[in-house]
Amino acid sequence: MAIQTVILAAGKGKRMYSDLPKVLHPLAGKPLLERVIQTAQAVSPNKAPIIVIGHQGEIVSQWLSHYHANWIEQKEQLGTGHAVLQALAQVADEDDVLILYGDVPLISIDTLQKLIDETPSNAIGMLTATLAQPAGYGRIKRNQTKQIIGVVEEKDATEKERAITEINPGIYLVPAKLLKRWLPTLSNKNAQQEYYLTDIISLAGQEDILIHDVQPAQSEEIFGVNDRVQLAHLERFYQRMMAEKLMRQGVTLLDPNRFDIRGDAHVGRDVVIDVNVILEGNVKIGSRSLIGANCILRNVEIGEGVEIKANSVLEGAVVKDGCVIGPFARLRPGAVLKEQVHIGNFVEVKNSHIDVASKVNHLSYIGDSEIGKRVNVGAGTITCNYDGANKHKTIIGDDVHVGSDTQFVAPVTIGEGATIAAGSTITKDVSPHELILTQRIDQRGIKDWKRPSKKSS
Ligand code: UD1
Ligand code: CA
Repeated sequence: MAIQTVILAAGKGKRMYSDLPKVLHPLAGKPLLERVIQTAQAVSPNKAPIIVIGHQGEIVSQWLSHYHANWIEQKEQLGTGHAVLQALAQVADEDDVLILYGDVPLISIDTLQKLIDETPSNAIGMLTATLAQPAGYGRIKRNQTKQIIGVVEEKDATEKERAITEINPGIYLVPAKLLKRWLPTLSNKNAQQEYYLTDIISLAGQEDILIHDVQPAQSEEIFGVNDRVQLAHLERFYQRMMAEKLMRQGVTLLDPNRFDIRGDAHVGRDVVIDVNVILEGNVKIGSRSLIGANCILRNVEIGEGVEIKANSVLEGAVVKDGCVIGPFARLRPGAVLKEQVHIGNFVEVKNSHIDVASKVNHLSYIGDSEIGKRVNVGAGTITCNYDGANKHKTIIGDDVHVGSDTQFVAPVTIGEGATIAAGSTITKDVSPHELILTQRIDQRGIKDWKRPSKKSS
């Protein structure tokens, strides 16, 4: 017996009022459906999920085509029962089918695993949840002995049934052979004239098939996204969960409500993160590092004891132990800073290696460069790496001292220990320990100069 996951994602999502298909809207940077696919893969690693698509289905399957999945089209959206029926031809008789939804993004692996582990073979497993506000959901009907005997849709429910607060999240584990027998027989004689998947619950009751119910650890796991308000609610729930996870691992978040992760973050102990920090993609932060307010860190590896001061934006960079970055610094892809490097305000570094203890502290652009150890790059230094067609390298040896407002017209190599005087435009290679002064305009003075003064009228 194996678990075959089926993900329903054919619905229109009209309450999103969006050109983008609903299931492609991101939660924490990842499309809703992609989250469900990854969860499905985790609980059933050996079987590609079957994904039922309809509205804008081509866009959806294109977007996520890098996943190993079986895309099935439901041409008309005639109900959840009809949707699952479309998938059944692809399902092996001996499998158990786990039904998930492309717009219920936070269902957890743990809850599904519990459903799988606890449901006896030949029985049906389903989630239920008790909500203070059950409106919109199908309600769970139980008999005197508390056995589940059916699900009634809100639109078909009596007033008394609507008062039931135990709801149907719509997630079930059902033997394929039962679905294959039942789904072709469903009728659409109900308030919505849809083929209701929920009818299988009363069919099971009629055949005395056991229904085992499992409750999710947290209600948000089973919440669906129908509009952007619900999407924002789940986003905040997810972010709070991620923030708490980090705090429990020894990370200080000065305000867990003003911290966002959109990807995977590994953060060491005693890291302190100030407000409005966003971590995107794969981010590693070593122990005892400090991240200032309003920093964005995307696909970066930060060592231990690093200080990143406020308003810095880092992407695709590697920052080794003890570096000090910012405030207002920008590290772009390929920036590799060895230990104890200082990058100051309004400095941009791209595709450059900067070796141990070098400093670029003010208003500079370092691109396509290799900078040695203990180099001091003065304020306003620019590597002119681009000739309009190609990029060229600037290579600077150890212990070079670069005066302020220097331009390196690449390709150019500066020997170790050289000194570049302020205001130089370097177009030729410089030997080790050389002092370079480029042509300067003479300084002229006029003594006792009177500045013009405003005429009084
Ligand atoms: C369904 C359940 C209801 C449950 C609720 C949980 C049925 C009949 N009712 O409600 O008991 O409380 O989910 O949210 O199953 N879909 C398709 N094709 C279709 C119809 C739906 O792919 O023809 C997909 C939708 O894209 C959506 C999901 O199935 O992801 C649920 O559809 P939706 O219309 O939101 O749920 P209901 O049928 O109202
Ligand atoms: Ca519906």
